[in-house]
Amino acid sequence: MSAELSPIDKAKFAAAKRAVGYVKDGMKVGLGTGSTAAWMVRCLAERAQREGLKLQCVPTSTRTAKLAGDLGLKVIPLDEAKWLDLTIDGTDEFDGDLNLIKGGGGALLQEKIVATASDQMIVIADVSKKVEALGAFPLPVEVIPFGWQTTKALLEELLESLDVMGRSTSLRMNGDAAYVTDEGNHILDLHLNRIGDARQLAMALNQIPGIVENGLFIDICDVVVLGSGDGSIQVHDINQGTIGEDKIDFLETDNLFTDLAD
Ligand code: 5RP
Repeated sequence: MSAELSPIDKAKFAAAKRAVGYVKDGMKVGLGTGSTAAWMVRCLAERAQREGLKLQCVPTSTRTAKLAGDLGLKVIPLDEAKWLDLTIDGTDEFDGDLNLIKGGGGALLQEKIVATASDQMIVIADVSKKVEALGAFPLPVEVIPFGWQTTKALLEELLESLDVMGRSTSLRMNGDAAYVTDEGNHILDLHLNRIGDARQLAMALNQIPGIVENGLFIDICDVVVLGSGDGSIQVHDINQGTIGEDKIDFLETDNLFTDLAD
């Protein structure tokens, strides 16, 4: 497999493969969204099939629901699962406290609801996602379509009073039309460059009527599994305060996954 994939895809695959090792028979598992999460769904389906694991999976987007269902994983809605043992998801950024920016793939609302309804959230990432301070990646904020321009104006006024380096905002587009989330909302991307106080910003954003949720995940992630292109892994565990080292072997059987690279 390793010959066909880019180093970044090998890193995502390594993190995904290591992270599905946390899943045990009988668990209810939240499935994240994005290219790294897609590797995880494929690894999980392969493991479930090989070991005959009985899992119930709650996806965080229509995209992930389709992928998981196509691969034979049992998909149920969150309201049926009610509470999950574990959620595994990707991220756009993570800092030293394992706080995150998510939502680059537009699924932040379901992702936050599912991760918050889980005993444990494990994030899978390659080294490009690790930052000193959050904010280089534009922060996604989900807003309802009604009055979104007023919401945007209120948001820009709020940013004037907060410790951020940049303050421009943009409506996420899908071609010529505004991007629409699975919940029928729009996304405003905040180009902040550097966020001084992510916790304060997350709370302040959600006070504005019209904002449904923001992409800052504060104190939600428990573990980041960081993959590298050579198969080496770092496991950052915020509750244990440890950083462990591991290594994934790229096996011939992993050729099964080459179609997932995107
Ligand atoms: C989707 C997300 C994704 O987890 C995030 O965008 C990372 O995606 P990728 O693994 O493709 O880099 O938050 O809303």
